[in-house]
Amino acid sequence: MNNWGIIGVGRIGLSMARNMSSKGISLSLYDKTFQKKSDSIFKEKKLYSDLKKTFVFKDISSFVKSIKKPRKVLILVPTGNPNDSVISNLIKILDEGDILIDAGNTNPVISLKNKLKTKKNKILYLGMGVSGGVDGVLKGPSIMIGGDINAFNQVKDDFSLITSKTIDNTFSFDLFGDSNQGHFIKMIHNGIEYVEMQLIASMYKLLIDSNNYNNQEIAEIFNEWNNSEQKSYLMDISIKQILEKIENKYLIEKIDDVADDNGTGRWMLNYGIELGCSTNMLSSAINTRFISKLKDDRSKISKMVNKSSKKYSVDTKSLSKAYQFCRLVNYIQSFCLINAANKDYNWNINISKVLNVWSSGSIIKSSLINDLYSNYSVENILSDKEIIKELNGYKPDLISIITLSLENDISIPCFGNALNYFNSISSKTLSTNMIQAQRNFFGSHPIKIN
Ligand code: 6PG
Repeated sequence: MNNWGIIGVGRIGLSMARNMSSKGISLSLYDKTFQKKSDSIFKEKKLYSDLKKTFVFKDISSFVKSIKKPRKVLILVPTGNPNDSVISNLIKILDEGDILIDAGNTNPVISLKNKLKTKKNKILYLGMGVSGGVDGVLKGPSIMIGGDINAFNQVKDDFSLITSKTIDNTFSFDLFGDSNQGHFIKMIHNGIEYVEMQLIASMYKLLIDSNNYNNQEIAEIFNEWNNSEQKSYLMDISIKQILEKIENKYLIEKIDDVADDNGTGRWMLNYGIELGCSTNMLSSAINTRFISKLKDDRSKISKMVNKSSKKYSVDTKSLSKAYQFCRLVNYIQSFCLINAANKDYNWNINISKVLNVWSSGSIIKSSLINDLYSNYSVENILSDKEIIKELNGYKPDLISIITLSLENDISIPCFGNALNYFNSISSKTLSTNMIQAQRNFFGSHPIKIN
């Protein structure tokens, strides 16, 4: 009998299996593709010695029977229909007291529904967000869990074996309330990830289009930042990708200028709308991916619009401060959304605990996360005088970078959103008295007076 079962042995599932098996956890593996081509996993088994404690099953019932009771089954199947159907099938076969863990990028709303489905059969449910990608999951992912405390207590010792050490010297996993809250935190993680990625992409664009820097020089600028307090995993991999060559050409120049998404950022935007919180930086990052898909239109319109093509210089010190400004606002917006969810849904997500779990193994791990954890009032970020002072100090640099981009017709998504947010949040008066007056005029909506 094996200690655990994993369903879904794609790239992430394989990394998870290698990680767990290398820590001495015996595993049953099932993937629907095994029915047709189980030979591929046997090839992997030969390739990776750390898979020696894994056992492959071609049908789900013998897979389930091979796991020690109470069974612990980890599902790493893509969100949507594939994930739904695995969970529905599994519920029929598992026994009372078994633990079903959905480790996909699942929408928090679906996660709650899954919990209710499993509850009927007295199966314990954990909704679990996993960050780290193929390499991170192999070496010690960041794991955000929601759900049954009794189930959590039964898995936590094994999770300490497969995760990594965090900033507070614990392990990179934790329990955050009910089943959907783990997936909610993973969704917020992904929203932060989208913005961080877009900020780096925007800076690369501003620098390369200036005709003043080549890839090597841009990598050196980023590297200098990455060797200081602006270190991050995403900056690290971006530098590597900027320098990557294929057939003597930079890979980045050959890659199609179109970006997809898996939906997590869209869900976060929806939560922002539902909870009445500004996530304008994320909105800009996602919209850029949407616009990127209009490739033919972009190409046609670009021929009709004259754009500046002059050489310009970029003050990289200003750029670095503008970047720091935007990164801080990205976290402020995410923390405000968590607080709004805590308030409206009566949750109790502790932001320090979240940062601790993100500080190691996650895609957004960075010195900034460690700094926020150690030096800021993250639970009440808008009352933190230091962060406001800091933003105010960086603001002139951000303005000069945005101005440069406007003068040269370069689109640098997310930067302007951060500035607008800060200008609004730091304004005693906004334009909303006029909105009230207009609503009152055409809809007789009551006016609130000072
Ligand atoms: C992680 C990532 C991962 C996510 C990819 C792709 O933390 O390991 O967030 O879970 O699936 O980053 O996301 P998009 O396809 O939406 O860019």
